[in-house]
Amino acid sequence: MSLTLQESGTQAPAEDLLLAWRREFPILEHTTYMISHSLGPMPRRAETALAEYTATWASRGIRAWEEGWWEMPVTCGNLIASLIGAPAGRVVMHQNVSICQAIVTSCFDWHGARNKLVTDGLNFPSNDYIYHGLARQGAEIVSVASRDGMTVPLEAILAAIDERTRLVSISHVAFRSSALQDLAAITERAHAVGAYLIADLYQSAGIVPLDVTALGVDFATGGSVKWLLGGPGAGYLYVKPGLDESLQPVATGWAAHAHPFEFVNGPIEYAPDIHRFLNGTPNVPAMYAARSGYEIVNEIGVEVIRAKSKRQTQRMIELAEAAGLTVRSPRNPEQRGGTIILGVPDADGRAIVAELGRRQILVDFRPGAGVRIAPHFYTSDDEIVQTVHEFASIVLP
Ligand SMILES: Cc1ncc(COP(=O)(O)O)c(C=O)c1O
Repeated sequence: MSLTLQESGTQAPAEDLLLAWRREFPILEHTTYMISHSLGPMPRRAETALAEYTATWASRGIRAWEEGWWEMPVTCGNLIASLIGAPAGRVVMHQNVSICQAIVTSCFDWHGARNKLVTDGLNFPSNDYIYHGLARQGAEIVSVASRDGMTVPLEAILAAIDERTRLVSISHVAFRSSALQDLAAITERAHAVGAYLIADLYQSAGIVPLDVTALGVDFATGGSVKWLLGGPGAGYLYVKPGLDESLQPVATGWAAHAHPFEFVNGPIEYAPDIHRFLNGTPNVPAMYAARSGYEIVNEIGVEVIRAKSKRQTQRMIELAEAAGLTVRSPRNPEQRGGTIILGVPDADGRAIVAELGRRQILVDFRPGAGVRIAPHFYTSDDEIVQTVHEFASIVLP
């Protein structure tokens, strides 16, 4: 199925062609699925793909490695590359973002004078945990705080980056507020002082158009469970062309060796290309499942998804504010990703989510932020109205 739909303004097109995709997601038959910022719905074709995986294992056995499985971290990564503006062969698959972050940060010596790692205060906690662990190896971690809990001021990030900075880590879209950060400006500043930049694209890839090549970022990571509809166990790592020779990840494994099947003991001889950022045996079934989601997002196109997302999230904000609810995401669609956060007292958040769940509307709650609600390309305008209406009926007196 190939759809092209240009949407603009705040009016729904007479016929929203993207709604034809609803048939591909079984859960939509009975559930209002507003939670693809957390776990996207399963596409039907993932079931077929997983059956293909077991059939291949059953019929081909160990031959499957040389018939495609071994190269899957790169061939599957190519489906991500086309979504984020990377050349083919520059994205490898791993289990999750945390592993990718650990691999990238293990490329650097944190003992020297250039030992600063600048991160944004709304970065995902897992990334923070890895960075603070580097303090044991001499790293100085500078986390640029958010004053409003929603955004981290660009100027404060730029000011924190100096000649002692080795790595700058930015979450492109903040998981707590959906605020979109200016990656281009931060990358430019990082490069001006000789630092590298790693972007966490988990909350932007698949819902916000991206071009890592034009942005010039050195590394980017993300995963599949959310907007990319790929299910758990498949994260990705992009490394800018040209960086391979200069980087030697300490967090490594035999799949990163130049000649892995020679099984040479002793120090590793790194592969000359993107394979040097691999580690051990790849997570093959997760990649089978994940490919289905990537294919769908590629088929529709992120520009089309973004146009609908901006219109529907704007509509949701208008409805929420008209009902007297508190919106805790940027008002300007250009400054936010695909999620809207509605403020609720922390003590009530989980109960509100549970009650919405009883009404067959799936959303989630993050302490200090609020209830996160996300339409995706399959969402109808009626579901937008229904979600805000049910939410208001629970929280308003
Ligand atoms: C921005 C962001 N980064 C990272 C993660 C998690 O990464 P991992 O793949 O390590 O579970 C999430 C959500 O789970 C996220 O929203």
